[in-house]
Amino acid sequence: MKISFVEPKGPAKDSSVGAVAVIATPDKKLPPTAAAIDKSLSGALTRAIAGSKFTGKPGQSINLLAPARSKAHRIIACGIGEAKKAQSRTFEDLGGKLVADLNGAGEKEAVIWVDGVEDAAEAAARIAYGARLRSYRFDKYRTKEPKEKKPSLRRLSVAVPGAAQARKLFAPLDKIAEGVFFTRDLVSEPANVLFPAEFANRTKALEELGVKVKILGEKELNKLGMRALLGVGQGSVRESQLVVMQWNGGQPKEAPVAFVGKGVCFDTGGISIKPAPGMEDMKWDMGGAGVVTGLMMALAGRKAAVNAVGVIGLVENMPGGNAQRPGDIVASMSEQTIEVLNTDAEGRLVLADALWYTQKEFKPKFMVDLATLTGAIIIALGGEHAGLFSDSDDLSEQLTAAGLAVNEKVWRLPLHENYDKELDCDAADVKNIGGGRSAGSITAAQFLKRFTNNVPWAHLDIAGVTWSKKDAPTVPKGGTGFGVRLLDRFVADNYED
Ligand code: BES
Ligand code: MN
Ligand code: ZN
Repeated sequence: MKISFVEPKGPAKDSSVGAVAVIATPDKKLPPTAAAIDKSLSGALTRAIAGSKFTGKPGQSINLLAPARSKAHRIIACGIGEAKKAQSRTFEDLGGKLVADLNGAGEKEAVIWVDGVEDAAEAAARIAYGARLRSYRFDKYRTKEPKEKKPSLRRLSVAVPGAAQARKLFAPLDKIAEGVFFTRDLVSEPANVLFPAEFANRTKALEELGVKVKILGEKELNKLGMRALLGVGQGSVRESQLVVMQWNGGQPKEAPVAFVGKGVCFDTGGISIKPAPGMEDMKWDMGGAGVVTGLMMALAGRKAAVNAVGVIGLVENMPGGNAQRPGDIVASMSEQTIEVLNTDAEGRLVLADALWYTQKEFKPKFMVDLATLTGAIIIALGGEHAGLFSDSDDLSEQLTAAGLAVNEKVWRLPLHENYDKELDCDAADVKNIGGGRSAGSITAAQFLKRFTNNVPWAHLDIAGVTWSKKDAPTVPKGGTGFGVRLLDRFVADNYED
């Protein structure tokens, strides 16, 4: 779908083929463009509104089909609620919903007129951003889908006074959307296609944007002593990888901000094997690594004024003749030994080495890790919030605020030494699961904390928000890309000079 911004010339004309959308508010007075179009249709729009439930609230829309004296197939009025109260999110959702409706209706071209709002250029950019985010579709393996089922919308024009300004505001948002799409692609790929080496290969696309990409294979990881990570991958015929991505957009000597991702390209559970129903979901157990990669793409794409490093641990957790056994003891890069009592608690083993490596190698200001780490976080928070765990109130507040701003919400859960004690072990320095099933997300976070070397750290458990079974205004069902917009905003608001 092509998106463009055009300067409205003269009074509103709906002579464009396809669909014409306008903005509407709950007060009886339509914004100028909507009113002009209504007038040219002898009041057909106000009559349609009067005879419907449409009141101009956000999320509402009304379609006027093939109106006489108009060349358009349809006129759509989109509610935004009270103009003064409308936020970025209101316009993003509007754009997203509009695209979904037009694709469902079979429209190929549409124009949306933006006026009657506080800041028209900003509203226009947000509408375009929402439209872009919703237009995502992962259909590369659908070879027999009939044309009429495919999305129809080719072009969306946003008509706004100050189109040049809107275009300028949209440019960085479009780069963030590209990062989100990259993440969604990675998350959606099946595990026969996206195994660790293939994932690592795809990160090379970031080099074009000026990101330094370093890929380490098993030989190098072994030399570094990453035997916690390697133990997870040892049952797989696919080689484990660690990818380091560096974006240096900040001051030359400034310590970087660091993001670390769990990249389990498929999680069978290993010898502690998972039940068959739903196991296919474990193709997106690399979601944390997917977000880190998409985030680095977004930061580099919009040339963020920050030094950022992204580290992802890529493995496949398989049973097999060489697989790790429950009870095995491995030495991590931190030199702490770990008794692996459950091979399905593998994400934390991967992150243990990735976190340790990151703080040792880069001396970052802080580390934020992302991981589809526990089923327990889905029980606690469902698909609405990601779990946040942190030893820093500052990081927690910044992440919470950024999440609210972009509607990727996080909810803080506690850490405490009494949970940590559950990981104490007779046979080794630490065991990889707690005593029982209670507080499973917290004990997992406590495990990670033991490998941060006291560098300020936050952990986002994204198991509940990485994949969605239903469409949302700017997030089609499937891989959500949750985390890219959140962390991009977190960086923009707090760490760019
Ligand atoms: N990848 C899973 C967690 C998960 C579950 C993510 C469902 C997304 C959807 C993780 O590796 C895992 O298996 N965790 C175990 C830990 C347990 C063995 C302590 C879990 O949550 O059951
Ligand atoms: Mn697992
Ligand atoms: Zn897992």
